[in-house]
Amino acid sequence: MKIKEIFEGVYKINNDYYTKNLVKGESVYGEKLVKINNEEYRFWDHYRSKPAAALKNGLKNFPITKNSKILYLGIASGTTASHFSDIAINGIIYGIEVSEIPLAKLKILAEKRKNIVPILADARKPETYSFLILEKVDFVYCDVAQQDEPRIFVDNIEKFGKENCYGMIAIKSRSIDVTKKPKEVYREVENYLKERNLKIIERVELDPYQKDHAIIVVKNNP
Ligand SMILES: C[S@@+](CC[C@H](N)C(=O)[O-])C[C@H]1O[C@@H](n2cnc3c(N)ncnc32)[C@H](O)[C@@H]1O
Repeated sequence: MKIKEIFEGVYKINNDYYTKNLVKGESVYGEKLVKINNEEYRFWDHYRSKPAAALKNGLKNFPITKNSKILYLGIASGTTASHFSDIAINGIIYGIEVSEIPLAKLKILAEKRKNIVPILADARKPETYSFLILEKVDFVYCDVAQQDEPRIFVDNIEKFGKENCYGMIAIKSRSIDVTKKPKEVYREVENYLKERNLKIIERVELDPYQKDHAIIVVKNNP
């Protein structure tokens, strides 16, 4: 089997993407595990996780490294975060989730994945969890599927991001405006992000894996 590390901690095997399993022998959401040269890799399902769909569609900038400190808004039960946790092995993921049910599952995951910190909070109110995040982060990932998601994203980058912080926002076009075409929504979100002084690095649409979704990669612009 041919394997290639395409970004730090992200591996391509036969046109699909994988991360090296931090907790050997354990699958998180039913994804398959593959052994190559005594290492175990987890399939990163592009139908279940938006960054994997973006990788399938040619994402060029993947700003997570093994040392990344990450703020994750809308972490749910940790499907995507489990792959970030495989990558940021010396880093930390502060996971904000407003709903108790997925957070309960995330807490079980975090017992073995020590780099995930589950936090029950509303991402619209960063002041309610700032006492738990005592350091600036390298990367903010936002996937809350709310109409005011762009504002939530930027408010958190401004409050918690380092000077050269990167961010990724997963946009579900219909959550922002059902009456507009997805491309129009993505453009409007980008304009808003620019107005709030972020630099747009890349946009990748996620069809057909995630219909009418896109990921926008940004960098703060001090
Ligand atoms: C699309 S799901 C996230 C899926 C997850 N990012 C993944 O890929 O594994 C959106 C999540 O955002 C959460 N959410 C919605 N509004 C929120 C808010 N204001 N603050 C924190 N979490 C929120 C929802 O409860 C839900 O779990």
